[in-house]
Amino acid sequence: MFDINNLLRENIKNLTPYSSARDEFQGEASVFLDANENAYGSPLDQPYNRYPDPLQLEVKKRLSKIKGVPPPNIFLGNGSDEAIDILFRSFCNPGLDNVILVPPTYGMYEVSANINDIKIKNVPLTTEYQLNIEGIAEAIDEHTKLIFICSPNNPTGNSMNRDDVETLLVNFNGIVVVDEAYINFSRQKTFIQELTEYANLVVLQTLSKAWGLAGLRVGMAFASEEIIAVMNKVKPPYNINEASQQLALEALQNVNQVNNWIKETLIQRDKLVLELKNQDFVMDIYPSDANFILVKTTDPKGIYDYLVQQGIIVRNRSKIDLCQGCLRITVGTPDENNILLQTLQNFK
Ligand SMILES: Cc1ncc(COP(=O)(O)O)c(C=O)c1O
Repeated sequence: MFDINNLLRENIKNLTPYSSARDEFQGEASVFLDANENAYGSPLDQPYNRYPDPLQLEVKKRLSKIKGVPPPNIFLGNGSDEAIDILFRSFCNPGLDNVILVPPTYGMYEVSANINDIKIKNVPLTTEYQLNIEGIAEAIDEHTKLIFICSPNNPTGNSMNRDDVETLLVNFNGIVVVDEAYINFSRQKTFIQELTEYANLVVLQTLSKAWGLAGLRVGMAFASEEIIAVMNKVKPPYNINEASQQLALEALQNVNQVNNWIKETLIQRDKLVLELKNQDFVMDIYPSDANFILVKTTDPKGIYDYLVQQGIIVRNRSKIDLCQGCLRITVGTPDENNILLQTLQNFK
């Protein structure tokens, strides 16, 4: 049985969180002399002299309408990278606990585990880039606290089989983190509708990809109220700055604009795939549910270096296990994709 108290680090269970001025008084008042701010104002045209809302309630209310998840089930991080780090810091004892990763996958899980001195048990994806469920079951031990699943997966682009993820959710007594950074581009359904079903599910999403706000650094975690409360306790008090909160709130009004970009990106992705297939040096293009494609080539370094010389940057993933020969290419605007394709015509 999943019980958050069996998972939490003892020091976090006993932690008295920092109580900020904005936590201690939340009512209406006209004179705020409680936070040592500059009472005169800021050099900018905005009230940036005041600390932001530590729990970002306005942003969460708007997200709640879009996502269909109540605000107490939403955590906001300084990018979803911060949510990843906070999961390690909340649940994994350094030098004792371990986490299961399923490479090739997003690199920050490993980096974050290493920063926090958490042992990594790697259970590589199958050659079809799917979960090795038996391998994961064998790797789980009494100190396994988290399993990170990225779906659609970076860098392979495919979604994980839903049944496999549910098998883990049902059978694992730790937390299954499903990173849905690219879900807006996917044919698959999000897992956030399953939160009421699985107490051990954490879904990560971000405003950095389809929403076009990578520069603001706003990531989201959706989970049970219990898990979100822990993450809020561990996070730095003012982790989302006022400018990001205001701009995110404004941007979240523009769902239609974002949906149009998503549609256009998918059209462009399919075109890019069709055109690239004609090139001699392309051996395979893996099916993608994301805004990038993984392309297996005969000469990844040669192509990468040639493109860099022409001012075009893609990601060379060829040194990663199961990605030999592969370049990861983000879908650009029609102009950018045409420049890429025309440039590649001249690659010898
Ligand atoms: C799978 C995945 N998760 C998370 C992130 C990080 O997102 P954020 O910008 O919200 O920190 C990325 C960024 O590339 C990603 O590919």
